[in-house]
Amino acid sequence: MCGIVGYIGNKEAWPVLVKGLERLEYRGYDSAGVAILHGGNFSVYKKKGRVAELSKFVKNENKENIFGGVGIAHTRWATHGEPSDRNAHPHLSSGGDIVIVHNGIIENYLSIKKILTEKGYKFISDTDTEVLANLIEDIKKNARVNIDEAVRLALKQVVGAYAIIVLSKDDPNTMVIAKVGSPVVIGMGRGEFFVASDATPIVEYTKKVVYLEDREMAIIKNKKLTIKTIDNKIKNPYFQKLQMKIDELEKGGFPHFMLKEIFDQPRSIEDSMRGRINIKNAVVKLGGIENYLDKLVNAKRILIIACGTSWHAGLEAKYFFEEFSLIPVGVEYASEFRYRNPVIYKDDIVIVISQSGETADTLAALQLAKEKGATVLGICNVVGASIPRATDAGIYTHAGPEIGVASTKAFTAQITALLLLCLCLAKEKNILNKKRMKELLTELEKIPKKVKEVLKVDEVVKKIAKEFKNAKNFIFLGRGYGFPLALEGALKLKEISYIHAEGFAMGEMKHGSIALVDENMPVVFIATKGPLYEKVVSNMMEVKARKGKIIAILSKGDKNIKKIADYVIEIPETSDVMMPFIASIPLQLLAYYVALFRGCDIDKPRNLAKSVTVE
Ligand code: F6R
Repeated sequence: MCGIVGYIGNKEAWPVLVKGLERLEYRGYDSAGVAILHGGNFSVYKKKGRVAELSKFVKNENKENIFGGVGIAHTRWATHGEPSDRNAHPHLSSGGDIVIVHNGIIENYLSIKKILTEKGYKFISDTDTEVLANLIEDIKKNARVNIDEAVRLALKQVVGAYAIIVLSKDDPNTMVIAKVGSPVVIGMGRGEFFVASDATPIVEYTKKVVYLEDREMAIIKNKKLTIKTIDNKIKNPYFQKLQMKIDELEKGGFPHFMLKEIFDQPRSIEDSMRGRINIKNAVVKLGGIENYLDKLVNAKRILIIACGTSWHAGLEAKYFFEEFSLIPVGVEYASEFRYRNPVIYKDDIVIVISQSGETADTLAALQLAKEKGATVLGICNVVGASIPRATDAGIYTHAGPEIGVASTKAFTAQITALLLLCLCLAKEKNILNKKRMKELLTELEKIPKKVKEVLKVDEVVKKIAKEFKNAKNFIFLGRGYGFPLALEGALKLKEISYIHAEGFAMGEMKHGSIALVDENMPVVFIATKGPLYEKVVSNMMEVKARKGKIIAILSKGDKNIKKIADYVIEIPETSDVMMPFIASIPLQLLAYYVALFRGCDIDKPRNLAKSVTVE
């Protein structure tokens, strides 16, 4: 969480930094700030709220000092200290020599703060970051070292996670960047450098980038880049070419990124399977994990680890793997797994799933699984992010940048990749014969078209959303492949509309939760045709008998359910296993339109950030 941007070069830094912050706002939007080196001093502008507030403030009153070719900027997701102008980054040191932006948490900041306070340092904010600014200033002054060495020595005292960019007014041609745990990427232009939490603020200026590894720092001095470890070992920069396109970062005529991303799913699902299936030969080819197929075949168990929506994709995968590759699967919340003493065997396969590839808990769980000797595979969307770099091997989902905070196309791309992995394993284990494999792949290939078709329910869902925009609660119910979808439907609704919602395994209702149902309770049923259809109908009757308002997602033409439900959303028929690809779409649309009618900030829901890089 939090986004950081830096620029050093011949351009005016301000517009580069502000545009960069807008791109990174998905990481947090409690406050925004910019520091520019202007006339030998730092001009620092910061404001509670969005980047737009900061721009408005500067435009109206404070233009004069924003000119200069060196600067840093920050968009915040608050951890230490409430969202306010005072706690907004960048933070200056007491003497005004150092300015810093920081993404992460300095865990031992209180003990450092105590020592610095005794030395006479004054603190304006409640943040851990201001402590680091003063620590760097203190070391620089007392050890009489230059800025890069002062940063390095300070970081040796620091415990926690960080990506930082530091400037010193005494050394105007130097920018220092360092990271542990939080991501940072450096773009190299002609005589200029761009720094950011991810590549989105950089891509329009240069495609040549280097991702810093943990415990590395970069020093840009007199237009030259040096990379070393915090232990002072020089490293060779490893430059990569960005594949990202700028139009993927724009709304493209849609009012919100979330709606754009929902409608992008026929394309994103297709891209997730592109080049990976061969129906004629009934094979799935996953280049990234090819060398690990033997290990997969011999594994006694798969453990899937993720958070939030990615966890729901993992739960779908449990059903895939158990049905087609006959292997036991455990699905774990990364935040729980990492703090237990999980029993892991050397022949376990651990699969971590993450859209961003930066989720702190998932990354820590991955590291724990590796320490315990498991083989770790990743399913990730963001190329080059920390998680895919830390796994043994993996599959990219190729959904393209997902910018709306609520995950939509990442979920369907994740289940596509996971189903492909499962089918690949089933083939290797000779569990599926060629005919069955061909049938499944043929059906999978049709999914993008069916998703295009299901998107036509847009207007129907909009009407239903309008009816329920003032609901206080929602229940989502599913069985089998529908159960993870029920959890996902509830999560989508609560995170962007702030309506309390819960998802349940339908059969569990009568063990307590059905007590919630009365005439005011909207209950969304995933009620498509499948092996558990009869049971779904019975559960629906139970809710109807208690006067719940039934919204059913059903297979096209199902007259039976139409008679029972109060509201229906018909979706194209497909096999039970492929149903989650299709039925997730109306759930996403329902959340979107309810939030729209409630006037919520859909792409930037309160209290959330897209990339959860703190634990
Ligand atoms: C919900 C959502 C979150 C993420 C979760 C994990 O819409 O987006 O629940 O799924 O924070 O993030 P990643 O997949 O980036 O690890």
